Amino acid sequence: MLVLGVESSCDETAAAVVDETGFVHSDVVESQVKLHAQYGGVVPELASRDHLRNVAFVVREALRRGNTTLEKLDAIAVTNRPGLVGALLVGVQVAKGLAWAQDLPLVGVDHLMGHLLAVFLRRKETDPDGPAYPFVCLLASGGHTAIYRVNGPSPEAITELGATRDDAAGEAFDKVAKLLGLGYPGGPVIDKLAASGDSSGIKFTLPMAGRAGFEFSFSGIKTQVANHVAKYGKPSGPNAEKALADLCASFQEAATRVLSEKLVAAAESEGVTRIVIGGGVAANRELRERVTRLAAARGMTAHLPPLASCTDNAAMIAYVGAQRAVRGERDGLDLVATSATVLARRTRKGRGDR
Ligand code: KG4
Ligand code: ZN
Repeated sequence: MLVLGVESSCDETAAAVVDETGFVHSDVVESQVKLHAQYGGVVPELASRDHLRNVAFVVREALRRGNTTLEKLDAIAVTNRPGLVGALLVGVQVAKGLAWAQDLPLVGVDHLMGHLLAVFLRRKETDPDGPAYPFVCLLASGGHTAIYRVNGPSPEAITELGATRDDAAGEAFDKVAKLLGLGYPGGPVIDKLAASGDSSGIKFTLPMAGRAGFEFSFSGIKTQVANHVAKYGKPSGPNAEKALADLCASFQEAATRVLSEKLVAAAESEGVTRIVIGGGVAANRELRERVTRLAAARGMTAHLPPLASCTDNAAMIAYVGAQRAVRGERDGLDLVATSATVLARRTRKGRGDR
């Protein structure tokens, strides 16, 4: 089954052709990062307009690189939730148009399910198969941070074990980078700077880190970094480079420690030995090292998708869509774009008592 996936939920316009086994025939991502960088974050209206400008090219390119045509497809999958509604609508309308014109099944896909199942994507014949079910997955991106037990590839088979009560982990990377004048998005640049830094001098503590349970809070660490900068000033002078690297390393240490430790603790409490990470923050080098190390120490197997599968892409959307299509599920042309996930939530945002 050959499925075209379309993704436009945030600031990447993407299209991909994937089959139901997870093999990626093409994977095209057109990033809007430069467009939003000057504002320090995603501007929704600009995102919608840019999706509109790029979506036709991206779809055509995915078909061309996948060495296929619309006639050869078996279904069209599209992210219809959660995300910026104006941005989502662009992909949804394009997918509807293509499905109607080609008389193909249309399947709406939850973006979070895409991240959770991106570990099943294979780009080369030699790439490893994904994990067996069940597994426990940390999803950490710019908009979401939560740990899930995944029993299978459908929303009913996925349980949230804990989520952030406030900011997402990626949001914390972005806000700290903004504070330090490092530009947007913050994750990759902090990751790079932290590599040459020393985290032992400054200790940041995450509010929920010492607590049992699998909930997170990331807004406090941003304030701690802001307080540090207010007290000592932004790194400047002859040692600025070193001071900046140390600050980034300290922040990254605190953030990746809590993410990796809670992931492993959640898997342990579920009696599950397979752990997975997904979402943009899963591209972080230190997080990947920590998860690998902790898994080895506890006799667990860590499945770390390659970087291209962690950040936003349409291949993961096509894969989840293929699983729906295989089950015979279909959406009509009345498919709506919505900002809410289909996955059941347990953690309330903005809950006090940290
Ligand atoms: O999954 P994603 O591409 O889009 C969303 O669905 O949000 O995640 C984007 C987020 C941004 O906050 C970005 O700063 C973060 O992922 N990110 C990283 C890294 N690469 C991207 N965070 C930490 N380290 C990285 N290497
Ligand atoms: Zn995402």
